Amino acid sequence: MREAGRWRFDLRPGLPALSAFPRGEWQAATRAGLAALSDDQLGYPDPQGLPALRAELAAYLGRVRSLRAGDVVVTHGVAEGQALLAALLKADGHREIGVESPTHPGSAEVFAAHGVRPVPVPVDEEGISVEHLARTGCRAVLVTAAHQFPLGVVLGPARRRALLAWARECDGLVLEDDYDAEHRYDRPAVGPVHTLDRDRVAYLGSVSKVLAPALRLGWLVAPPALHERVVERKRLSDLGCSPLPQAAFAHLLRTGGYDRHLRRSRQLYRRRRDALIDAVADALPAWRPHGVAAGLHLVLRLPDGADDAALERALARRGVHAPRCPGTR
Ligand SMILES: Cc1ncc(COP(=O)(O)O)c(C=O)c1O
Repeated sequence: MREAGRWRFDLRPGLPALSAFPRGEWQAATRAGLAALSDDQLGYPDPQGLPALRAELAAYLGRVRSLRAGDVVVTHGVAEGQALLAALLKADGHREIGVESPTHPGSAEVFAAHGVRPVPVPVDEEGISVEHLARTGCRAVLVTAAHQFPLGVVLGPARRRALLAWARECDGLVLEDDYDAEHRYDRPAVGPVHTLDRDRVAYLGSVSKVLAPALRLGWLVAPPALHERVVERKRLSDLGCSPLPQAAFAHLLRTGGYDRHLRRSRQLYRRRRDALIDAVADALPAWRPHGVAAGLHLVLRLPDGADDAALERALARRGVHAPRCPGTR
């Protein structure tokens, strides 16, 4: 393996175009955000998040994801939201959590590290199999409903209903990782499961796929019955996120800079996706692309009998980092 940053082409899923980060706008937002903070706000922060950012996020998530996010908690990203929920699940006696198979390996690791064992549940063209989930005995499940990671399928309407019926039946919790909700190319955005039952669904998102993972800024909307406990857990874990980047992000949201960046980057990703699909269709017609309508990556299914491990090594020798789909072997 090469060191990070040494690849000629890094095609790992999960990273936005880092060279397109709006450095100038972020600098201006940082200046404006700092100016908007009172002296008092430079003391220990509200562990729920900076009030100005929470208000902007509630408006943004309401507008873009139809979410009622009055109780949003600012986090250091989806990963921290998962860690906070994992700790609560563990305290409530959960020993296992259902995860989609394949899933995002980093997410599964977070739950395992908190003593909540990830149990793989198969995914088909309609998303996670609720029938299989019900047989695991788990009472919590992590899903990427709008754009399954990594396969790219959407959790269908009947499955959404079945998932929520399962959660009500077993007094369970659905953790919805809406990691790349904003990147839709050929169809309108697919709504979150959270809007169907906010008592059963904890909603997680972040700026990692729109701006940059380095900002470590995200949000968590927990069911009302869990909200206070999430905030207390957040307080005990780090006393809250730094107000400075929160103030900058609030400024970017308020002034439309985030929307502008999204519009620009959506065009960039659509062009890159179209070029990749055309090139694959020309050069490798037997390789079928999946999950192309949304997101920052696509999955190529190799023809039967192809040795994907050998291919990964051959690409690496040429400086191309194109990892195999996690959990498919
Ligand atoms: C599906 C999925 N969930 C969660 C994460 C972690 O996101 P964050 O940077 O917001 O912690 C990633 C990052 O790659 C991801 O791809």
